[in-house]
Amino acid sequence: MQLPPFDELKYKFFDVNWDAPMNTISGLTNWGKDANHVYWITTVLCFLVFFAVAIPLIYTLIRFKDKPGDETPPAQFHGSTTLEIMWTVIPVILLIFIAVPTWRVLFKYAHAEPNALEIEVIGHQWWWEFRYPQNGKVISAGELHVPENTPLHFKLWSNDVIHSFWVPKFGGKVDVMPTAFNKETGAPSAFNTLNISSPALVDPNKKGGEHYQGQCVELCGASHALMRFNAVVHTKAEFEAWTQTVNTPPKVETRLAAEGEEVFARCQACHTIAGTPSEQIPGDKIGPNLSNFGSRKYMAGGIRLNTPENLAIWLRDPASLKPGTLMPNLGLTEKEIAAVSSYLRLSTVKTY
Ligand code: CUA
Repeated sequence: MQLPPFDELKYKFFDVNWDAPMNTISGLTNWGKDANHVYWITTVLCFLVFFAVAIPLIYTLIRFKDKPGDETPPAQFHGSTTLEIMWTVIPVILLIFIAVPTWRVLFKYAHAEPNALEIEVIGHQWWWEFRYPQNGKVISAGELHVPENTPLHFKLWSNDVIHSFWVPKFGGKVDVMPTAFNKETGAPSAFNTLNISSPALVDPNKKGGEHYQGQCVELCGASHALMRFNAVVHTKAEFEAWTQTVNTPPKVETRLAAEGEEVFARCQACHTIAGTPSEQIPGDKIGPNLSNFGSRKYMAGGIRLNTPENLAIWLRDPASLKPGTLMPNLGLTEKEIAAVSSYLRLSTVKTY
């Protein structure tokens, strides 16, 4: 199933279907399937309890309804040891039936598999950063790339407020908490983890990967609803190729792009493009890493398709697309916007 462009997504109340990108109970990963198993056990038990209560209740309402002219008082009694034992023991048994499979799933995913691919997820107001520490300095923003059918070990923390990481089709929603950082190494002092395996490709030969919607699910400020991302599942070979080419610097061949490169010098205090002078500015940048931005399907935190038109709207006035964004209106002229857009859209990785 293919993800429709986010800006064309219009949810209608009755437009419910199993393949909807935000369907919680159609997880495709090991985690998603195991969680659904527990979910179904719980649902079936809840229905049993519902009927076990509702049927006698309806029977009693009808059978013992007050009859006109009948002045007999209802039977008076106090306490029933048998009943009290029953309604203590039955819920305990039901809860054991829920608790055991729940614990099994929780413990199964408590630890990373030894060969897991490590991915650092950093929440920012309002965009997602993904780092691949095992693959050198590969950093992505707004786009999570994973090889198919591979154990993943996510380490998640936030740069500002509490966010929550969620790809509904993967399962495994997890809070992304602010933390302190080690002054020397810059490493976070605490982080949450998530251990799931990526799903298999629906079409095993799919070029450019299969796309799933991700969304921040913890109210984190004005543009919380606009804090999305695109999760891309690749063949293992394609993922390997992506990690090796994504940091290739842009190849400036036109005059417009060369002008854009000059304009970008004003952006590099906040943004990095691998292999360009922007990389020399030390410290963590405020804005998303833009290495191979042109290869990304979505922009502005996953809310718009990455097209020259949308990029121009963003550069003219970022807050018009994302209220409260830290990206200021740079007051670029239309000519500068065309130039920097041309430069940013140069892409050495063609995945889509
Ligand atoms: Cu980040 Cu909501």
